Amino acid sequence: MSFTIWFTGLSGSGKTTLSRLLFRELKCRSLKAELLDGDIIRTNFSQELGFTKKDRDINVRRIGFVSYLLAKNDVISVVAAIAPYRETREQNRKLIDSYVEVHCNCPLETAERRDVKGLYARARAGEIPNFTGISDPYEEPVAPEIVVNTDKESVSESLGKILCYLEEKGFVPMAHECQMIPFTEDDEFQWKNDLARLGFARAVGPGRSK
Ligand SMILES: Nc1ncnc2c1ncn2[C@@H]1O[C@H](COP(=O)(O)OP(=O)(O)OP(=O)(O)O)[C@@H](O)[C@H]1O
Ligand SMILES: [Mg+2]
Repeated sequence: MSFTIWFTGLSGSGKTTLSRLLFRELKCRSLKAELLDGDIIRTNFSQELGFTKKDRDINVRRIGFVSYLLAKNDVISVVAAIAPYRETREQNRKLIDSYVEVHCNCPLETAERRDVKGLYARARAGEIPNFTGISDPYEEPVAPEIVVNTDKESVSESLGKILCYLEEKGFVPMAHECQMIPFTEDDEFQWKNDLARLGFARAVGPGRSK
């Protein structure tokens, strides 16, 4: 059964970490899925967009539309993108059947302390305008299907919570019901090489990408 699972939350809240692990798990369970990470989308699909509310909304709706197209073809979308505005997220929810929102809930202080990409320091130094949580809003979800408290839970606890939800709701079969196929680092390497060969960026460009 196809569905869209959207990880929303501050930068450094765990969206990429959890979405990648979930994506791998879905592939291992022989499910058709695509991973839409905000960084890759911004680098290869929404290059012309900036970080004003208008541009952020276009980006989020664009990802929503791609998810809708994938869903029509029975492909699961795993989206990792901040999507800071509630109304825009709700528009996607209306557009897409079986929309599962995961709030990567993490206090700003924790995300800032992690500063995985060094962007918070630059935002505090005034080098990056419109930075979510610092100089731009993040509107927390009101009724997300899943909340993971990534400041308190381990990565595997958060992932377990998400998988439990998806299994309970019948979105994914239990592991023992699936023909499990290993997902190897080689698969990911191959995918990145394919992107590069086709002229797309393999990963995030320099500096900020979302
Ligand atoms: N329960 C958890 N779930 C997810 N990540 C966690 C958890 N606990 C700790 N972390 C750590 O938090 C960091 C999250 O970084 P990650 O790149 O996934 O954030 P992000 O939300 O994708 O940020 P950005 O919006 O900038 O891309 C990682 O270093 C990860 O190991
Ligand atoms: Mg990320």
